[in-house]
Amino acid sequence: MSSSPEPSEARLVRWLPLGPLILALGACGEGVLDPSGHEASRVAGIWWLMFTLGAAIYVVVLVLLAIALRRGRREQSSDSRSSRFAGTPLVVGGGLVLPVLVMALLTSVTAMSTGRADAGATTVEIEARQYWWRVSYPGAGGVVTANEIHIPVGEPVELVLTSTDVIHSLWVPELAGKIDLVPGRTNRMTIEADEAGEYRGRCAEFCGLAHAHMELLVIAEPPEDFARWLDNEARDSVEPTSDGELAGREVFLGSCSYCHTVRGTNATSDFGPDLTHLASRRTIAAGLLPNTVGDLAGWILDPQRHKPGNAMPAMQLEPDALQDLLTYLETLE
Ligand code: CUA
Repeated sequence: MSSSPEPSEARLVRWLPLGPLILALGACGEGVLDPSGHEASRVAGIWWLMFTLGAAIYVVVLVLLAIALRRGRREQSSDSRSSRFAGTPLVVGGGLVLPVLVMALLTSVTAMSTGRADAGATTVEIEARQYWWRVSYPGAGGVVTANEIHIPVGEPVELVLTSTDVIHSLWVPELAGKIDLVPGRTNRMTIEADEAGEYRGRCAEFCGLAHAHMELLVIAEPPEDFARWLDNEARDSVEPTSDGELAGREVFLGSCSYCHTVRGTNATSDFGPDLTHLASRRTIAAGLLPNTVGDLAGWILDPQRHKPGNAMPAMQLEPDALQDLLTYLETLE
């Protein structure tokens, strides 16, 4: 018997400590444990409390399991009725009383830390659509943009969140926890960035085919830079000057104005993202591609190849018309 191969239970027990490690690595990847704002710090605090409690309980369970396995084998031949009854307090204490206490503690800590922070001077309206984010700044001269939220660093900013189609969820791990955007309902959340920088966010609720490509960028900048950005965004689009730009605007008005707005022109549709200041954005297609001429051309010609399921049709354009259109779009700073 002593030379028999290792029992499968013992082999399993050797791998069990990997559980908490995998959990911790999963959280690291999304920046939850690297908070840069008040809201995110609270989430991280609760995460660490849950992780510490969970890991401690996990270790206790492993030790008890090891003891049980060892005893079980030793007592296999003897009558084990007495040891079964001896374990009753352990089952009641560890299986009933302890979980209730731990859950009560976690629930109260979570409830106490989810009070809403004071909103600052800036309000940003975010409307989720399949599969992009319409971003507007009420009270800032009709500023509408997409997939990029600029905020002043060190100031609380109120987000007003809605959806026009299905349920989406906004998640910028370094700044705050998740919040759903629900059709017919308005949710609010206050975020604040402690440091200037770019924070990636994503849709965290499955919302259709292109759900995985519904990202956004939060750009926190010094209040002066934010004011300058907002001021520029409130302006109409720049007037074309060269022949190529003028021709490009005609292509735009003929092919793209059914879905997009460029303020200062006859293109006023609200179906797709507002492109008035497209050239000043970091990315296109809701964070999927960098905003370069090449990527823009590829996107215009075949958006479904890059992001299957999105609402934009492929544009049938002659090479010259495409070149003019790109020249015009590049001027939209
Ligand atoms: Cu929007 Cu997932």
